[in-house]
Amino acid sequence: MPVISFANAKGGAGKTTAALLLATELAQQGYRVGILDADPQRWITQWHELSGPQHNIEVISEVTVASLQGHIRELARTADYTIIDLAGARDAIVTTAIGLSDHVMIPVQGCAMDARGGAQILDLIKLMEETGKLKIDHSVVLTRVTSMVTTRALLTIKGLLAARGVNVINTPIAERTAYREIFDCGGTLYSMDPTKISNLDKARENARLFAGEVMQLLPVRIVRSQQPRRLFKVVRSAA
Ligand SMILES: Nc1ncnc2c1ncn2[C@@H]1O[C@H](COP(=O)(O)OP(=O)(O)OP(=O)(O)O)[C@@H](O)[C@H]1O
Ligand SMILES: [Mg+2]
Repeated sequence: MPVISFANAKGGAGKTTAALLLATELAQQGYRVGILDADPQRWITQWHELSGPQHNIEVISEVTVASLQGHIRELARTADYTIIDLAGARDAIVTTAIGLSDHVMIPVQGCAMDARGGAQILDLIKLMEETGKLKIDHSVVLTRVTSMVTTRALLTIKGLLAARGVNVINTPIAERTAYREIFDCGGTLYSMDPTKISNLDKARENARLFAGEVMQLLPVRIVRSQQPRRLFKVVRSAA
């Protein structure tokens, strides 16, 4: 069961939004997803309370440094993917979550090009890799990208990060009304009314492409057994 955490030391970079888009998209595609809400602001928990029970999604709140590993171990029995939403900080819980993750996603706002919070997480990962002699896979995902941000500007950011050896997810997460509405109205992109939310089709496509890339990085194959309703999974490590 891959564990994916979303980290950026700066607040408002789009961590929770990206985490929820990934979780709901994976659930939509039939994967069982556990979300660990490790942000004291509890945005994912509030979304879950507003939405009611969601198919294939389990949310665990009140996650602490001490409880994190136990939650991950428990979810390994019931979930295909575990997603950890972290606060905009660089504290003990962020460090612990990073150390327990198979992949760290670092959302960085494409429009502001303010990558300082993301750079702090990149530095933290480097430090942990050096001192702990471990490898922590990670990627930057550009978020809140508007039509104002040109393809050329995005390519420049990607080039700069690539020069530092940082993997960048090809699909940037666009600025979309639908992504704000999820938190205001609850549910998912698939329970929203396309006649009421502008560009919902584009929002769904964007989330699908983003999740597709994450699934390629961290594949989990679900094989339905002969007995209906039971699922077996085979976890392969990324190529
Ligand atoms: N792609 C997007 N399109 C539209 N609105 C977005 C998008 N991403 C984030 N937002 C909005 O920006 C604000 C901050 O986003 P979000 O809560 O996801 O960031 P965060 O990094 O989790 O912040 P924090 O550090 O406070 O936890 C929210 O109001 C959210 O609705
Ligand atoms: Mg958040």
